[in-house]
Order: sequence, then C-alpha cells, then structure tokens
Amino acid sequence: MQQIYDRINETARIIQSYISEHTPEFAIILGSGLSKLEDEVEVISEISYKNIPNFPKSTVAGHKGKLVYGKIQGRYVLMMAGRVHYYEGYSMQEVTYPIRVFKQLGINRLILSNASGGVNPNFSIGDVMIIRDHINLFPEHPLRGKNLDEFGARFPDMSKPYSHTMIATLEEIAKKQGIKVQKGVYVGLQGPTFETPAEYGMVRILGGDAVGMSTVPEVIVARHQGMEVCALSVITDLGGPDISPNVSHEEVLNAANIAMPNVVKLVKGLIEIYK
Ligand code: HPA
Repeated sequence: MQQIYDRINETARIIQSYISEHTPEFAIILGSGLSKLEDEVEVISEISYKNIPNFPKSTVAGHKGKLVYGKIQGRYVLMMAGRVHYYEGYSMQEVTYPIRVFKQLGINRLILSNASGGVNPNFSIGDVMIIRDHINLFPEHPLRGKNLDEFGARFPDMSKPYSHTMIATLEEIAKKQGIKVQKGVYVGLQGPTFETPAEYGMVRILGGDAVGMSTVPEVIVARHQGMEVCALSVITDLGGPDISPNVSHEEVLNAANIAMPNVVKLVKGLIEIYK
C-alpha cells in the first residue's frame, strides 16, 4: 500500500521540478485527433512521458506522449498530450495513474476531451458534445482493490460526476460565440473494436448519446479524489442498429480535426473565465 503512495510521490516530485513557477489551475487531457489544443499553450516546459518515472507510455497513432506545462489565456495549465487506453493492455490503475499524480501536485480541476460515436439521432458528425453524465461499461473498475484513503472514500459519491458550473459556463460560451453544442451521456466501452450495429443500438437503449473507449476511468478517479471535472466529446461517426458506419481510425481523426476549432474555443473560453 505504502508503495503506491511512494510511487505517486516520486512521479509528482519529478514533475514538480518542471512546474515550479505556479501550480496549474487546470489539468487537461487531449483525446484522439484533438492535439491542436496544444498549440494554444504558451509553453513553459515539456516533459516526455518516457522521462517521467512510473508514467504509462502511449502506443496509439495520433497519441503523442508528453506533458506540456504553460499558460492558456494567462492561466497555468498542465496538459497531457496523449493518453493511454485500457484497450492498449494497461491496467485501470495505469490508465488513471496520471490523475492521482495531478491531485498530488495540487491540481483540482480536470478538463478532458475525446472522440466518440454518436447514437443520438439528432447528432451529426463533427458535433461537439458536452458530457453531462456517463455510463461505465468497462469490464474492470479503476477503484477496485484496497482504497487509497488519502485520496478519497471507499464508496465515492457519483451524483455529480461532471461539474454543473463548468457545464453551465461551457454552454454560456457556446451561446455567446455561436458554437453548436450538444449535451449528453457518454458510454465507456473497452474497445478496441468499434461497436456492431446492435451494440450501438444497445448504447442508445441504455440511455447513451455517444460511445467511446476512454475518459470514464479518469473521471471516476478524479471524482474519487474530489477534483472538479468537465469533458467534451467530438462526434466522429454515427452508429445505430440500422446504420453500418464502417468506421476507421483515420475517419475518426479527420472528423476530430474538423471539430477542433470549436473544441479549442470552448476550452480556451472556459479557462479564461472560470473562477
Ligand atoms: N465507438 C467507440 N469509440 C469511438 C467511436 C465509436 O464509434 N468513435 C470514436 N471513438
């Protein structure tokens, strides 16, 4: 048990030496094809994951692996350019390890982005969805095992997984800037296959608006330790029992690229005005 705390401390100590100017106010995790947000950072320092002890290393195309520290709209942020996924073979503890380290560094807010398949018939490819809730269908729970009492409770509350004030702020920004946003429920499945038509149909029946292979584990761990969380999902394809979308990773990256300017505007706006 002590071992895990020691490991988190060791990682945090190394990162701390790169971010000593000011504690980041936001941690940001970039999803598939959403790396352009990185260009918005006035960079102070960068650390490749391979130089961070105990950090998982990403293996997917389109996912780089570095932490970027700097400012957006004059506020300090720490950005994960590249995340690791459960489907790559990492354990849930590995996937969510950076979230533990963020907390240890004193960061209390987390902004996530991802790409997902839309199952709500009102959605179009390239829409940005503010995630208002999620359904966890991963086969392993990130909090399974001995509880890390120093971070949070054994049975964490999940009544408000996504910050209502952050969501309201994002909606306000979208309205002011004329950006079309959807709001919905993200269903997390392990992948790496995209869903069959029947599975997209199941996601819809269960109450989902979009389905993807990330984010849910990170959000659970962030909420366990009391971080304030918001997440944006770019709808990169549409699925349903009567739609055979024939999705490829390239199409996902292309659609994410098209929606990118809106994601950038929303995240920049949030960081600028969120108190
Ligand atoms: N399903 C799961 N993950 C995804 C999808 C999808 O349709 N699109 C982008 N990521």
